[in-house]
Amino acid sequence: MELQDKVVVITGAAGGLGKTFAQDFAAQGAHLALVDLNAEKLSEVRDLCTAQGVKSEIYTADVSQETAVEELFEQIVQDFGTLDGVINNAGIIRDSLLVKKKEDKITKMSISQWQHVLDVNLTGVFLCGRETAAQLLKLGRPGVIVNISSISRAGNMGQTNYSASKAGVMAMTVTWAKELSRYGIRVGAVAPGYAKTEMIMAIRPEVQEKLLSTIPLRRFAEPSEISHSVRYIFENDFFTGRVIEADGGMRL
Ligand SMILES: NC(=O)c1ccc[n+]([C@@H]2O[C@H](COP(=O)([O-])OP(=O)(O)OC[C@H]3O[C@@H](n4cnc5c(N)ncnc54)[C@H](O)[C@@H]3O)[C@@H](O)[C@H]2O)c1
Repeated sequence: MELQDKVVVITGAAGGLGKTFAQDFAAQGAHLALVDLNAEKLSEVRDLCTAQGVKSEIYTADVSQETAVEELFEQIVQDFGTLDGVINNAGIIRDSLLVKKKEDKITKMSISQWQHVLDVNLTGVFLCGRETAAQLLKLGRPGVIVNISSISRAGNMGQTNYSASKAGVMAMTVTWAKELSRYGIRVGAVAPGYAKTEMIMAIRPEVQEKLLSTIPLRRFAEPSEISHSVRYIFENDFFTGRVIEADGGMRL
């Protein structure tokens, strides 16, 4: 798919990787529906995209709420007149060990830590993927769905909830590729390793050093390198049902 003049929805677009995806796709001439909970930061991203000469609108919505997501996609198609794809990027972490024993005290990952991460990272991707597909069918158009998974989908210490959600994202990617190809809809995933976002750069330098020693390329990804992978999935019409592991060779 050529990105020029296509309409792409980006969730979690207010910061981090989502902001880079927005700027990158705007530079390719795509018109953008930017979705996030943070309206103030979204406006800043919208202005950066609009400055590149594309149409760009912002939508404050929680991707984990069914009615809100249904209304969101109806509104986007109304505002832009069409739809070509989505980047399911919104995601959160609430890390904790499953159980921990300190002296005689046992602490557990709470049900709210579990549920909140599953709600945003798994249900959010399910709802936005489903509504994208439903709108594309209604419009009778082909399209592309890119889901952002993570290297942690293989299972990572302290991330029972996050790892389960990101493995689920991969399973949905393969399932949707099988179900939706008959409608001309391709579905792919990107599983980033550590990227230079605010969250990663805020980690203490000594911990960063330890992390870097586990990455064969000995550096974190530039957000633009993750975006390059997302763009590749959009642009390569023979790509579906697969994941790009953009992780510098790191394996968990
Ligand atoms: N940064 C990394 O190194 C890295 C590595 C692997 C995977 N990822 C994945 O990439 C994606 C982006 O990560 P990031 O580091 O840019 O995170 P980030 O926290 O900087 O950005 C995530 C955005 O999602 C938004 N968001 C959170 N909950 C939402 C909800 N319910 N509805 C709508 N928006 C919501 C936040 O407001 C935020 O703007 C996530 O799915 C993350 O799991 C990131």
